[in-house]
Amino acid sequence: MAERLFFALPIGISSQMALIKHQAQLGQLGRVVPAANFHLTLAFLGQVTQKQKEALIERWRDMEVPRLQLVLDRYLHFPKAGVVCLGCEQSPLALTQLAARMRRDAAQHGLHSHRAPFRPHVTLFRGVHQITELPPPAPVTLALSEIQLMRSHRDMGKLIYSPLVRWQAPET
Ligand code: 2AM
Repeated sequence: MAERLFFALPIGISSQMALIKHQAQLGQLGRVVPAANFHLTLAFLGQVTQKQKEALIERWRDMEVPRLQLVLDRYLHFPKAGVVCLGCEQSPLALTQLAARMRRDAAQHGLHSHRAPFRPHVTLFRGVHQITELPPPAPVTLALSEIQLMRSHRDMGKLIYSPLVRWQAPET
């Protein structure tokens, strides 16, 4: 059976707290994303069969994870997806290049093909289709040192993200 997979950066506890504050400040824009589900997607892979998953993990076995800081400093509303996120304009080159490699690899192996360019963001609300102007946010600095291959599934109607594989940046 195929699984819905994506590559993402997990969000540490202190950043989760800062993001919860943003949700509280913005009020009920839509469905609040629970802190346990916060993540920064690098590449969405779509439905992946067991065979494709095994080959994917093998291809990325020696992934080099950059250790970096990312400042999220603007609210983004993606009306088509119906989400409000905290994101940024510019991504560090190492992150952009890694996301591009993952997306290229996915497309070359029959997985999801991205049209929009990579724009780092953490989704705060879903089901947002109409909003007024969003204020400038207090920036949140994410310390990133781990990448996860995540599985998205529903359990009793609840959306669950489970890490299947983790890659860590080397200790400095
Ligand atoms: P996002 O919230 O960071 O935008 C798992 O489904 C995750 O993959 C979602 O949380 C979403 O990440 C991303 N995603 C889902 N469908 C997508 C699509 N069609 N294109 C790009 N990213 C998608």
